[in-house]
Amino acid sequence: MHLLSSDDLSKDNINRIFGIADAIVAGKEGLALKEHATVALMFQKPSTRTRVSFASAIAQLGATPIFVDSQTSQLSRGETIADTARMLSSYCDFIVARLNKHSDLMEIAQNSTVPVINALTELEHPTQALADVYTVRSHEKNLKNVKIAFVGDIATNTVNSLMLTATKMGARMVLIGPRECKPNARILNKAKEYGTVEVYDSLEDGIDDCDFIYTDTFVSMGEEAEAEARRRMFAPYQINANVIGMAKKSALVLHCLPAHRGEEITSDVLDGPQSIVWEQARNKMLLAKAILLYLSQID
Ligand code: CP
Ligand code: NVA
Repeated sequence: MHLLSSDDLSKDNINRIFGIADAIVAGKEGLALKEHATVALMFQKPSTRTRVSFASAIAQLGATPIFVDSQTSQLSRGETIADTARMLSSYCDFIVARLNKHSDLMEIAQNSTVPVINALTELEHPTQALADVYTVRSHEKNLKNVKIAFVGDIATNTVNSLMLTATKMGARMVLIGPRECKPNARILNKAKEYGTVEVYDSLEDGIDDCDFIYTDTFVSMGEEAEAEARRRMFAPYQINANVIGMAKKSALVLHCLPAHRGEEITSDVLDGPQSIVWEQARNKMLLAKAILLYLSQID
């Protein structure tokens, strides 16, 4: 099984992954990948958290991570994605890939005989969404009681995966962003099949009864050419003390990171008492382990 989209996982699959993460936290022994396993980590875009958390998770599970950067592999000289995938899957037990184009990830999966894990494309970030919802669940066990607001770029990869995973697990989602920024219609409709997703262009209207407030960069990787226009469009959606004042006193703040302090979020909020972003970031390694173990247990 591959993990290309958050929609590849059923509620039962997600519960099993969370169960493995809980077992790791509880110190259950014997959780390891098969002896001498290797994992190809193929990165076309920058990454700090996903890259290092997966590499450490792999090492701590007794396997070996092998980095295949686009600049230092034959991909840089035009070898095709399909041929690369075919070779990597004959050497390694998993392929973890962060790619510019989701269609390239699909091509890797079509040419791989081993599980392929999406480590972010322009369309989705499913491993992030698992860490996000696991973090939310650590604060409220019953996800049916939870309403998560995603504020700012409501068309980005992180919100696409988050809304699929969160609604499947029973949480309600609220997307708050400018009218010009249209959520991905296919993913929004899917998420609405699983649960509730409300869309607002006004922070005042959308945020008041939310338990979690999530934001991400206004300029995602690959959108640098439109950076100025995007910063202008999203500026009114910055998470700052004023916005926190509109929300429940108990509301907690999430961010996938990296943060652009003073753009989508202010430092006082990011470093403030309601922020759980560092716990969220720490959980990425835990969920990386749980995902690898889960995929190694199923066909
Ligand atoms: N959140 C996240 O995916 O961070 P990196 O880009 O550093 O991997
Ligand atoms: N939406 C962001 C997520 C970074 C982890 C990006 O794609 O750059």
